[in-house]
Amino acid sequence: MTVTPSAVTLPIVMGGPEFAADPPAHYAWLREHAPVGRVTLDFGAFAQDIWVVSRYADCKAMLTDPRLLRSPYGPPPGADVPEHMRLVSSATLDMKDGDEHRRLRTLVAAPFTPKRIERLGAQVRVLAEQRLDALREAGGQGPVDLRQEFALPVTYTVIADLVGVGVEDRARFQQGVTALMSGFSGSQEDWEAQIRDLVAVTRDLVARKRAEPGDDLVTGLIEAEEAGDRLDDTELVAMVFSLVTAGYETTYNLITNAVATLLDHPDQLGLLRAAPDDTALWRSALEEVARFVPPITGTRPATAVEDIEWHGQTVPAGASVIPLLAAANRDPEVFTEPDRFDITRSPNPHLGFGHGVHFCLGANLARMEARVALQVLFERHPGLTLAVDRGDLALEEMPLWTRYRELPVVLG
Ligand code: HEM
Repeated sequence: MTVTPSAVTLPIVMGGPEFAADPPAHYAWLREHAPVGRVTLDFGAFAQDIWVVSRYADCKAMLTDPRLLRSPYGPPPGADVPEHMRLVSSATLDMKDGDEHRRLRTLVAAPFTPKRIERLGAQVRVLAEQRLDALREAGGQGPVDLRQEFALPVTYTVIADLVGVGVEDRARFQQGVTALMSGFSGSQEDWEAQIRDLVAVTRDLVARKRAEPGDDLVTGLIEAEEAGDRLDDTELVAMVFSLVTAGYETTYNLITNAVATLLDHPDQLGLLRAAPDDTALWRSALEEVARFVPPITGTRPATAVEDIEWHGQTVPAGASVIPLLAAANRDPEVFTEPDRFDITRSPNPHLGFGHGVHFCLGANLARMEARVALQVLFERHPGLTLAVDRGDLALEEMPLWTRYRELPVVLG
């Protein structure tokens, strides 16, 4: 294996307190001094050194580079790995390549129709209104954590309804998904037990929908057929929980990040307040949020299938590489005044929803959900303000995410 100076890991810990205090400064440093470099990802219970790429052109190129594949990252096909761990670590769409990815994506995308998404718009509005009613009744004028009390329940209910998770299974499902996303902070056994439970509840759901089809995505996935081909049970389970996971953890953070960033830029919020029904402006504002504070800051790792020479570095065959979407989104080579939050920015070719064959399957659903939820929120509460000093809003110390720990606001 080639050894180069770059094999030395940089003193940058994504997921550490220093990084969380100012991610854009770290991205800028990486883009300038180490466009292809190794950093540490700190997941709490374990840490991993990994290659990251931070310039826009490189991130975009690597997302379509056949020398970088997703599937080798998971356990190899014959490896002795418990089924629930294989499901969460390698069976999802974003861990597949080539024909296998194409086949699965076609089948999963089939029931994700624009018509189904459009129909959901009215439902999102009702859910957002009900949630705000409940908050008003419960709390009066006191501060509310908008992330936990509004963004999360609205988005979780939308995706759970869409997928077809029954009301009785929602708490269990959510617990498993939260464990899956946040990694294990307690014991490995407890974490695995939660993942096992998530897989079990998903299996039950698939079995139930086979017996009693409904107007939901699970039924759509069961029925989806491409050239006589269908998803088998294991694939169905992997797809169902990956849609739920991808579908609400990301979207509720998109909404939270949007509110925090708009409150921090009163001139930009003023433009929206002056034109509350201007759907095109809201759409454009959300694209800017996805550029400026993307909930997902890097994709799943890809593995180099051969040595790759890059900016004078050698990424050796077998090494894992992540494109830092959030760093690419602030690249001055592509975005004028990249550190300015400008809801009218056009064009805005950000990578917040990824790029290439793994481009976010739920992007249009997420855009619609976030837009409707935010329109309802600011329509109902035009005087909404932060309940803490701006400096007291902290990001979670979690690699590859931009998520606020909480977003206390006074609804007004
Ligand atoms: C990828 C679903 C919301 C960012 C994906 C994939 C799925 C998915 C299934 C994998 C696609 C593939 O590998 O072919 C959803 C659903 C959502 C949602 C159902 C909401 C209803 C979001 C949001 C963001 C986001 C709000 C961030 C702004 C991404 C990114 C990728 C991705 C960056 C690419 C990951 C990669 O290259 O591995 N999404 N997503 N998603 N999604 Fe979403």
